[in-house]
Amino acid sequence: MRPPGLRDDVVYLDHNATTPVDPRVVEAARPYLETHFGNPSTTGAYAEEPRRALHEARVHVAELVDADPSEIVFTSGGSESDALALRGPALAPGDHLVTQVTEHPAVLRTCAALERAGVRITLLSVDGFGRVDPAELRRALTPRTRLVSVMLANGETGTVQPVAELAAIAREHGALFHTDAAQAVGKIPVSVTDLGVDLLTIAGHKLYAPKGIGALYVRHGVPLEPLIPGGGQEDGRRSGTENVAFAVALGEAARLADESLGVEAARITELRDRLHDRLGEVRLNGHPDHRLPGTLNVSLPGVIGRDLLAGLPGLVAATGSACHTGDPEPSGVLTAMGLDRARALAAIRLSLGRWTTEADVDRAAALLTQR
Ligand SMILES: Cc1ncc(COP(=O)(O)O)c(C=O)c1O
Repeated sequence: MRPPGLRDDVVYLDHNATTPVDPRVVEAARPYLETHFGNPSTTGAYAEEPRRALHEARVHVAELVDADPSEIVFTSGGSESDALALRGPALAPGDHLVTQVTEHPAVLRTCAALERAGVRITLLSVDGFGRVDPAELRRALTPRTRLVSVMLANGETGTVQPVAELAAIAREHGALFHTDAAQAVGKIPVSVTDLGVDLLTIAGHKLYAPKGIGALYVRHGVPLEPLIPGGGQEDGRRSGTENVAFAVALGEAARLADESLGVEAARITELRDRLHDRLGEVRLNGHPDHRLPGTLNVSLPGVIGRDLLAGLPGLVAATGSACHTGDPEPSGVLTAMGLDRARALAAIRLSLGRWTTEADVDRAAALLTQR
């Protein structure tokens, strides 16, 4: 069933900014808003069903990323998960943290704050496709390196990083590895075991759950200081009375994603490539192969992406990360990849999703090429 918020007169190709909530997710969460209001941390009849549902949601999220349910901490979203992953290991002044230039601001700004507190930060560069060179990570590591944070997939370009390789290098050196998988989970197979990561960020609103719910995978045995101390919920790793309805929503979204991952990825890749073909002479920004199924970032010749989209009310897409809108500067992600200013300003990001049809991509291509 198509979410009622998707309009027939406006093609929505901005799923990397946020996804509509799947109507099945809404239905799964509804009883925990309307009926089962009990506090899952209390005892007695009212607590039982919320507690059971919270556990089931944790199981679904864990299954999607190949983790144990006890390794899943519910948070308020991707940004909080990133902050908990970076601050939780409690780095001391003089400790070293390695990250890379195209991370989401939730990572980069947390690193900047840690740097002000005396932690040494190294920012790895990326190549023209937006990928980190594992050899550069190897060179950056020092005996004081405690944590490495490299995202699994970039939201602007869809470029997927060689995380398994990077995590193995970090592990060899005894450093923890965090990956921000907010843009990857639910779109491509993600296994914390195969990746070999210690910490992994999940954001609900990128996989058809509501905004304001997310999770952090924390490998067994990784010590973590809570960002929010208090009643000791989430095994002491994130206090605050649990948002049961939204956790259930995330659990159902994870279950649905798991169910259709392979088929959906193939369908969306095909639609994305059809859209690319129909745009004619454009330059692809991001990796041609190591890329999310639904992400197409292209520079159209002789345009300013922002102006182009502003003149096309029948199409919703993006020119950079959603968090950067209002910023007249070219995308920092694209400039970090070495794109010149004109090409970076000409970029548009088209991101497809669960209800995107062939008719949608054909209409989008027609609008973008009618100039
Ligand atoms: C890679 C990445 N990390 C983190 C976030 C932030 O997630 P949230 O909006 O749930 O805080 C986003 C959202 O755009 C993202 O793309």
